[in-house]
Amino acid sequence: MNYQVVYFSRSGHSKRVAEKIAAYLGTTPIRIDDHKWWKGPIGFIRAGFYATIDKKVNITLSEPVKEGSTCIVISPLWAGDTAPAIRAFFRMFPKERAHLVVTSIGSTVSKRTSYLSVTDVVKREENEDQVIKQLIDRLSIV
Ligand SMILES: Cc1cc2nc3c(=O)[nH]c(=O)nc-3n(C[C@H](O)[C@H](O)[C@H](O)COP(=O)(O)O)c2cc1C
Repeated sequence: MNYQVVYFSRSGHSKRVAEKIAAYLGTTPIRIDDHKWWKGPIGFIRAGFYATIDKKVNITLSEPVKEGSTCIVISPLWAGDTAPAIRAFFRMFPKERAHLVVTSIGSTVSKRTSYLSVTDVVKREENEDQVIKQLIDRLSIV
């Protein structure tokens, strides 16, 4: 199976998870940039606002997704849903060809339909490496 790893990250957690998954696959993760400033307290409030009202963002990818790939897509959880940049990605790429991985502090994503699978990496449960390994095993990659 031709897998590609695609991620968006505000503060580094989803990036780290993406890099670990990509390392298992021997690939380089593709970064989604939404060209917004989400840093600091103002950025946090703005992020919550964008997530809550489902405000659209324009994105670019650090490299294009190869034709016919299945993607492993890593998103932070923002107000119970994926980040706006990830929602934008799924306006271009079918959920039916994606395994979604959502990083969070304590809760899990509510909209879970259409994806090939949904994996929750919850900081409070301190099982990041175990969850990633289970995902990789499920994909029968190693
Ligand atoms: C705007 C915003 C909303 C968030 N909402 C939730 C939430 O509903 N539940 C939760 O457990 N964590 C929530 N978080 C925390 C992030 O999901 C968590 O820290 C995530 O792993 C950050 O990933 P990142 O470092 O890749 O940006 C939120 C963070 C932000 C910035």
